[in-house]
Amino acid sequence: MKTTWYAMLLALVAAPLQAQDVKVPVNLPPMPEGKYVHEAPTLEDLEADESINPELKKVILKGRDMFINTQQFRGEYVFNDLSCSSCHLGEGKLNWSGPVWPAVTTLPDFRGKNQHVNSLEERIAGCFSFSMNGTPPEYGSDDMLALAAYHQWVATNAPVYERNIGGRGFGHLGREMPADISYEKGQVVYEANCAICHGEDGAGQKKDGQVVFPPLWGDGSYNWGAGMVRVYTAASFIKNNMPLGKPGSLSDADAWNVALYINSQERPQDPRYTGDAKETREKYLNFHKYSMYGTERDGRTLGQHDNTGSKPFLKPAALKPRTFE
Ligand code: HEC
Ligand code: HEC
Repeated sequence: MKTTWYAMLLALVAAPLQAQDVKVPVNLPPMPEGKYVHEAPTLEDLEADESINPELKKVILKGRDMFINTQQFRGEYVFNDLSCSSCHLGEGKLNWSGPVWPAVTTLPDFRGKNQHVNSLEERIAGCFSFSMNGTPPEYGSDDMLALAAYHQWVATNAPVYERNIGGRGFGHLGREMPADISYEKGQVVYEANCAICHGEDGAGQKKDGQVVFPPLWGDGSYNWGAGMVRVYTAASFIKNNMPLGKPGSLSDADAWNVALYINSQERPQDPRYTGDAKETREKYLNFHKYSMYGTERDGRTLGQHDNTGSKPFLKPAALKPRTFE
């Protein structure tokens, strides 16, 4: 029974994942009026465009491969089971799924998370450090250049410093948790709609050593400093993208409840950890006020541990403050 389901799911999910220019079936919220709505180029556009130097095409394709097969850097840049495309669906092009191109057209800009003006490379480094529980390719390296080239190509024809962007990020449900949000109801939603792919224990599933369904908590998942630990971020992501193949099918309340449930489970430490989760929560409260980190669950303080997952260090060296004094 279990294997039959598994084979069916593999056929359903793995095949389209390998197809080029994945189009996930969508049932998305209406685009608000007056926003810039981006049409990202396709691989056919890239191939057909003779104005792009063949050498640049190669570099863009390498960046794309890094983005969707990030596990090839396991143990180097990545220490969990995710790829960039695990959260940025449709190869980082899909509206309402954190399309990545706005980082190209809105940076350099001030970022609240690290309180300084960030470059595109630093923004990419942020997702390596937190979402991938890893450490970024060196600034200015070939690998960083390839990723940046891919992001920039996806941004083709988008206006620079336009900030009124439709379908950007994961946040359309608003930031404040509903007053009646429920962990227990979230668990019921999880078991009915998510566990079949992501596992009862949230650890995801692998086949022949390859990640087929990524983990939602535990050592293989995003760490406590990742944007996805904010309950509102996960709720909006889930609402518009999960269950895979049936986006938009959960009620808003169920999306909030299940986001609270998965983000109340343990995961690798926040690289900004001071040695005390409650203190770290207070220190980065502008971020953690939206997460469950440093709060109590079943008599334990979430995030109070020294576990960095399979990463043999806490904080990547690339995470540095920047000042212009
Ligand atoms: C665990 C989920 C997750 C993974 C994996 C992940 N990201 Fe992200 N990423 C996020 C979230 C959450 C945001 C913030 C979106 C928001 O502001 O609502 C984000 C934002 C971004 C942005 C900025 C987009 C903008 O609107 O400015 C870029 C660029 C980006 N990620 C690149 C990457 C790259 C490259 C990788 C792989 C190395 C990656 N991400 C892996 C969750 C993830
Ligand atoms: C049919 C299988 C399937 C079901 C059911 C499903 N997911 Fe996913 N989920 C995936 C896959 C596959 C990805 C990675 C996306 C990709 O690679 O295209 C993913 C990605 C995610 C991610 C971001 C990556 C990560 O590992 O953190 C979250 C969060 C998530 N799913 C939550 C949920 C929740 C909550 C539910 C239930 C409401 C759910 N999913 C149901 C297959 C599924």
